[in-house]
Amino acid sequence: MKALEQRSRTMISIQLNGQTRHGGCDNRTSLVDFLRHELGATGTHVGCEHGVCGACTVRVDGVAVRACMMLAAQAEGSRVDTVEGLARSAAMSDLQQAFKRRHALQCGFCTAGILMSCSDFLERLPDPTETEVREMLSGHLCRCTGYTNIVMAVLDVAASRRASAPAERKDHHA
Ligand code: FES
Ligand code: FES
Repeated sequence: MKALEQRSRTMISIQLNGQTRHGGCDNRTSLVDFLRHELGATGTHVGCEHGVCGACTVRVDGVAVRACMMLAAQAEGSRVDTVEGLARSAAMSDLQQAFKRRHALQCGFCTAGILMSCSDFLERLPDPTETEVREMLSGHLCRCTGYTNIVMAVLDVAASRRASAPAERKDHHA
C-alpha cells in the first residue's frame, strides 16, 4: 500500500493521430492503458498484455510497436498513431476498405493492431511477396479469419498503391 502511495504521477503529452494530447500516468502505466483509460482512445485493444498477440499494436514515430510492452512515459513527445487515425474524415483508408472488401475480419478484436502493423509494413515494403506478408502477420494472433483473407487484402493494397504511384508522381512534377 505504501509503495502504491509512493508512485509518482507524471503529466505527459503525445501527438495522437496528429493532435496534441496530455494525460497523467504513473511509472508503470503502459502506453496502451494510457491511450485507452487516460485519453479514451479505445480503438486499440488489449489481449495478452505480454507482447504475444499483437492486438495492442500502434505506431510510435512511424514504427509499429506493442503498446502493452511500452511505458506511457517512454512515449512522451512522440507521434502516436492508432487505428482511429487511419480514416481521413469519414472515408476509410484503402487498407480498411480492402479488409472490408476481402472479409478480412470477423469479430474484429485483432483488426486494429493488424491494420497498424500493415500500414507500417506497406510503407517500408511497398512490393511484398505473399511470404513476406505472412511473416509480418505471424506477429498477430487472429482466432477467426484463418489469415488468408487478410493476406489477400494486404496484397490488394500493395498492388493498387503501386498502380497509382506513377500517376501521382506525374501530378507532383506537373
Ligand atoms: S496485448 Fe499487447 S501484444 Fe497482446
Ligand atoms: S477477426 Fe476475430 S480475432 Fe481476428
